[in-house]
Amino acid sequence: MKFITFEGCDFCGKSTQIQLLKEHFKINNHKVFLTREPGGTELAEKIRELILSFKEIKDPLTEYLLVSAARKDHVDNLIKKKLQQGYYVLSDRFYDSSICYQGYYKGLDANILKTIKELIIGAFEPDLTFLIDIPEDEIEKRMCTKRVNNNIYDTKPKDFYKIIRSGYLKIAHENNDRVFIIDGNKKIADVNAQIIKIIKEKIL
Ligand code: TYD
Repeated sequence: MKFITFEGCDFCGKSTQIQLLKEHFKINNHKVFLTREPGGTELAEKIRELILSFKEIKDPLTEYLLVSAARKDHVDNLIKKKLQQGYYVLSDRFYDSSICYQGYYKGLDANILKTIKELIIGAFEPDLTFLIDIPEDEIEKRMCTKRVNNNIYDTKPKDFYKIIRSGYLKIAHENNDRVFIIDGNKKIADVNAQIIKIIKEKIL
């Protein structure tokens, strides 16, 4: 049980939480490696730049193929190697993001998502996933405060977050042995404590 992913809408606080978990592993003398999707390897980071540099890739299959190419390189050449070397690997996003963004939001067929996933990573999947969940109005509030416009998804209307959020909740309910819903509306330290509690129960 060593591959742990973090999922959630933009502004849910997952980057902060993943950093805090990394520190927790380090303090407890565990080898830990932090990565992200799309990205991680040199090739996958180039694909990430390409995807995010576009105002919008309209066709979800095209976008999914790009993300999948990055994912294959990431899994084959980084994640699996680190796991073999005894690291806990923490990834900011993974395949569940594809189900939400390319599937639920852009309408890519679930069978296409699954078929290509099986082709590129087979049965490989995270041991544990934390879904940091926050309500749509809280996302809007945080968006106004932070005013981050890093990529196209950061400027989407409320409806977008509604679709992504309900998509994530559906994934969590369908995979309740792997995906844990964390209330991201709580204080940073409380969210961290809840994550560590689950890690202790499931992994350490
Ligand atoms: P990023 O700026 O890293 O967003 P965040 O900080 O919220 O993770 O950009 C990554 C974007 O890529 C994010 O908006 C979601 C999108 N994405 C997909 O559309 N499909 C995927 O499979 C993955 C991994 C990410």
